[in-house]
Amino acid sequence: MKNNEAPKKIYLKDYREPSYWIKKTTLDVQIYDGHTDVTATLLLERNANDESRKLSLDGDSLELRGLTLDGKKLDDTQYVLDAEHLTLENLSDQHELIIETRIYPETNTSLEGLYKSRLIYCTQCEAEGFRKITYYLDRPDVMSEFTTRITADKTRCPILLSNGNKIDEGECANDRHFAVWHDPHLKPAYLFALVAGELSLLEDRFTTCSGRDVLLQIWVEEKDLDKCAHAMDSLKRSMAWDEQRYGREYDLDIFMIVAVDDFNMGAMENKGLNIFNTSCVLAKKETTTDAEFQRVEGVVAHEYFHNWSGNRVTCRDWFQLSLKEGFTVFRDAQFSSDMGSATVKRVEDVLLLRAAQFAEDAGPMAHPVQPDAFIEISNFYTLTIYEKGAEVVRMLHTLLGETLFRKGSDLYFERHDGQAVTIDDFVRAMEEVSGRDLSQFKRWYKQAGTPELEVSSEYIEASEEYVLQFKQRCRPTVECKEKQPFVIPVDLSLLGDAGKLPLNLKDQLDPERSDNTRMVIELTEAEERFVFTGVKELPAPALLRGFSAPVKLRYRYTDEQLLRILKLEDDGFCRWDAAQQLMIREIDRIREALVADPSPAISPALVDALTAVLADDSLDPAMVSLMLTVPSEKYLNELGEQVEVEATHHARQLLERKLAKALAEPLLQCYELMRARQAAKPYSVVAADVAERALQNTALHLLSILGDEKSLALVQQQFAEADNMTDELAAFKALVHSTRSRFDSAKTDAIQRFYTKWQAEALVVNHWFSVQASSPAPDVLEQVKALMTHPAFDMKNPNKLRALIGAFCNNVTGFHNANGLGYAFLGDRIIELNRSNPQIAARLLTPLTKWRRYDEKRQEKMKAQLERIQSEPNLSKDVFEVVSKSLELS
Ligand code: BES
Ligand code: ZN
Repeated sequence: MKNNEAPKKIYLKDYREPSYWIKKTTLDVQIYDGHTDVTATLLLERNANDESRKLSLDGDSLELRGLTLDGKKLDDTQYVLDAEHLTLENLSDQHELIIETRIYPETNTSLEGLYKSRLIYCTQCEAEGFRKITYYLDRPDVMSEFTTRITADKTRCPILLSNGNKIDEGECANDRHFAVWHDPHLKPAYLFALVAGELSLLEDRFTTCSGRDVLLQIWVEEKDLDKCAHAMDSLKRSMAWDEQRYGREYDLDIFMIVAVDDFNMGAMENKGLNIFNTSCVLAKKETTTDAEFQRVEGVVAHEYFHNWSGNRVTCRDWFQLSLKEGFTVFRDAQFSSDMGSATVKRVEDVLLLRAAQFAEDAGPMAHPVQPDAFIEISNFYTLTIYEKGAEVVRMLHTLLGETLFRKGSDLYFERHDGQAVTIDDFVRAMEEVSGRDLSQFKRWYKQAGTPELEVSSEYIEASEEYVLQFKQRCRPTVECKEKQPFVIPVDLSLLGDAGKLPLNLKDQLDPERSDNTRMVIELTEAEERFVFTGVKELPAPALLRGFSAPVKLRYRYTDEQLLRILKLEDDGFCRWDAAQQLMIREIDRIREALVADPSPAISPALVDALTAVLADDSLDPAMVSLMLTVPSEKYLNELGEQVEVEATHHARQLLERKLAKALAEPLLQCYELMRARQAAKPYSVVAADVAERALQNTALHLLSILGDEKSLALVQQQFAEADNMTDELAAFKALVHSTRSRFDSAKTDAIQRFYTKWQAEALVVNHWFSVQASSPAPDVLEQVKALMTHPAFDMKNPNKLRALIGAFCNNVTGFHNANGLGYAFLGDRIIELNRSNPQIAARLLTPLTKWRRYDEKRQEKMKAQLERIQSEPNLSKDVFEVVSKSLELS
């Protein structure tokens, strides 16, 4: 794309069916060292709903070497070729079109289409990468039957894989061999996959609910074969779970996973041949943290679940992306809750939503769950499509209840099996089974922005009435200035002095008194009032239990009420949230007090409450760990109108220090107890053990802040003795992130040791980069720049980029250093990556897009970098869209 020609926006309202269908797609892929020749044979059939006899195929970076229509070679007067299309006109109802193209996987650094990751050839076709392999109708509503023949050198590429079943294989001349794969299921091109290279195999089997035997294969580089067991186990549990919870059975005789090092995303659900980033497959205790074990489980499940929510039923167009992604994230979250602790999973999801999705919704890239326009679809694989999309499905589940929701999903899958459909089709299935009108609910898909829910209350002692008044509003976003009210399910209970109070709504149809202590109120209007009767004392309302809707809740809780919720509420999310709110208040108080007093005291009530949390044996240690975790800078910065970089950082740091000091004794006891419990049993990643390590390491983190000899010794001991990466990394982080001079020599030593020990493990080296890049040290940028010249760093590998540059740009004090050098650093990197990998360039740009939230001086510096990027020649669509939206007047 050139600067002077602005790239075209694509609109949902312009959707038209294609002029032709592609009934069959036969690919012949000849892989040579340096180039690959692709011959695509397409069986075309005119779409009866479309009068046009013109066929415009998508293509990107292709070398066209031949075109044959119904057996006759075409010359260049018989078609039109431009940078993005190959167009044929005046066609008949049916044709066979043979397209010969040459491509260069070895030099394809975009990691879309066919490319080479180390020694492995692999493809990534979602969303629009297939057009980098051959000319095609590269859109999800064109579904075809694929047969793929791969030919390559026998020694360099002993393994040849594609979708479906292998139907033939054999030898060719010149030490080459071939394999032919046939996929019986119709699919859009974005689900096509091909892999060729030298790979090692872990194999297993699964018997489906109807008794079919499925071969399961995980293909990795030989050195990683000892790290595949967890992914295989996760896969088998996912397959069983989808049968039990959703009645969904697998539909081929073989299911393959391939792991590659260079991958833009986490993983991809290609039919029968999922391709994964190594970071989302490989796991063993020595090299992998508990969080990563859980990520592997979640991603394996997610991609497997797509086989139904995405592949069997796919998207009509990319505006429907959340149809598959939001629903599948919801499904993988249900799975993870069932496998571990539901409350912990919920809190983790809410943390991400609040710290990152709410920020997206408040920034220049805000868009509805169903967007109405885009320039580059790769920019729309966002937290809004994924996480908010999953929240919307979750609200449907809350409103309908498990039984009706399951009926709805059954109807959706059965009715639309083999089709490319819309979000409306999904909601319609839910409407039909429940008899509900969900037209207002659908505003969640159409209106961007995070609703703010303001709640006020009044207790009328004389009549024993308690009134809750709800007001919702949603700030304007580019696509929608005046927001209509949302349907907001509010799960709530009322807490008296000794526990939950029975809930009775005034003017209820059924006047019989209930003993129910929780209910879900459905808000539908801008303002609404609910009166509870028979309320014998002033309650503390526990609102939005389980985080029942993705909104910003504003209620003026007293400290006493929050403490009561923390103590008495049975919903783990609400208890955790109460602790968070108490800490946020404390940070606000500290920030104000710091003006006059360099060391303000913290409230004894908070210390008492957290002491009680630490002493509460009935609590899951994972929840104790979460409750002791001070809210992240990122989240704190979300709360105010303007980000106060230094003030928030200092106040937060001070709270952590004061808490560490006040809780030192119970923290140490807790640390030792958790260590002892772990030492008494073999390592495992069951939720209970993960929880103990989480608490142990949260305690270690707080203790390390004390910075005394004893805490240094503790951290060093754990660093030296750890037999698993969770403990080793926690200690490493505590050393590297310490601001105490006492830690200095141990820190330098640890950085060296850790690298020497783990240099052969790429995924562990990523941690080594990101721990250093997220350090609070004032010279962190210098360190990051030095690390970029380290032999282990690789500008072409997305994992390395995320580990070093991504981590630095999310390091609030480092990146937002008032000198502006962090911004200039990112500007340089974006300009570099714009050429080699536009998708990653656009993603890494995110922190700069939020420039309007900072003070004037920072704004200027951030904006200057965006303008500098914008003036680059040959800006990719990806970067162009993000930069121009960020700079647009709002
Ligand atoms: N379909 C996506 C992968 C994808 C996205 C490929 C965009 C190409 C462009 C896949 O199902 C996915 O969503 N993966 C997530 C992980 C998942 C657990 C949310 C990812 O890759 O981050
Ligand atoms: Zn997905």
